[in-house]
Amino acid sequence: MVKAVVLGAAGGIGQPLALLLKANPLVTELGLFDIVNTPGVAADLSHISTPAKVEGYLPPDDGLKKALTGADVVVIPAGVPRKPGMTRDDLFKASIYFTNIYDGLFLPSSQINAGIIRDLATGIATTAPKAFVLVISNPVNSTVPIVAEIFKKHGVFDPKRQVIGDLSLSKEIVVPVVGGHSGVTIVPLLSQSSHPLPSGFSKESLDTLVNRIQFGGDEVVKAKDGAGSATLSMAYAGAEFAAKIIRAVKGEKGIVTPTYVSAEVDPSGSAALAKELGEEVAYFSTNVELGTEGVTKIIPLGKITEAEQALVKAALPELLKNISTGVSFVAPPK
Ligand code: NAD
Ligand code: LMR
Repeated sequence: MVKAVVLGAAGGIGQPLALLLKANPLVTELGLFDIVNTPGVAADLSHISTPAKVEGYLPPDDGLKKALTGADVVVIPAGVPRKPGMTRDDLFKASIYFTNIYDGLFLPSSQINAGIIRDLATGIATTAPKAFVLVISNPVNSTVPIVAEIFKKHGVFDPKRQVIGDLSLSKEIVVPVVGGHSGVTIVPLLSQSSHPLPSGFSKESLDTLVNRIQFGGDEVVKAKDGAGSATLSMAYAGAEFAAKIIRAVKGEKGIVTPTYVSAEVDPSGSAALAKELGEEVAYFSTNVELGTEGVTKIIPLGKITEAEQALVKAALPELLKNISTGVSFVAPPK
């Protein structure tokens, strides 16, 4: 029996993600929570003949608590997406820039991503503290630390269970993507691709490819022209990641995936990673192994090229800043 819950289930990512989870035969119960429209989404999905029993919840009458009760896996795509000209960091909390770019619409901080994630994480920590939490809401480099800090505040933090699935390029071509999830913090290790680059691939072509991967999200934001960011590809990646967690929890061995995790998850793996990075980072995206308890092992970067080492070095200052923004949102420095 597996209960999966989507928080933000009526949104651009939430709806196709809920559909993909409903299609997963391992999911037996699906809880859908949003501030709008979940009863309709749930009624629609319930007409699909797969095992999962679907229920939609709204904030009144303890809807969040009801949605989360008994949850095994919680996926969070709740929050505001980017418009052209915005960075993911602009989604963190209210700023003049944010309100202007949102057509003069004023959204109080509690309705922007950092506040949304803090409140949802509080709901999970108090109702389903053992659930695996997969955070999609941006800026991921900071929202994952927010979830962890809230769990710590409630004394239920388990670093194996707060994770995020990074976008992988496709099923056939696997490229580990390490670091974080915004601009220069996204570091593709093309030297470790399942399909090595052709010999004679020029430095210019390599730089162009790396830049395209780092700013692939912006490409979609631009093409959607104000209607948001990637939804369908993210829903697919989120559902795949949730499926990997469910398979691992059910005992499948050897599942390795790149994921943004707390370094506390595996002290020896973190130490090896810190040695490779020349710096200790509290959160880092790297290949991890999944087991019945969630993330069981951090796999160090391994052999990477000089150019990739330079990319990792360039990512660290931004990543450290993003992590500290998330941590101090919950626990301001004294
Ligand atoms: P969207 O606006 O279409 O959907 C967001 C949903 O969240 C809406 O249905 C909204 O009602 C809901 N919501 C808002 N406040 C809520 C709350 N307090 N509780 C529950 N639900 C709430 O946006 P989207 O395109 O689905 O994107 C959602 C988030 O995912 C954005 O922050 C976006 O930047 C992020 N994103 C991340 C990745 C990634 O790779 N990690 C990829 C794409 C998008
Ligand atoms: C993505 O990479 O597609 C997401 O982080 C959404 C965005 O804002 O680009």
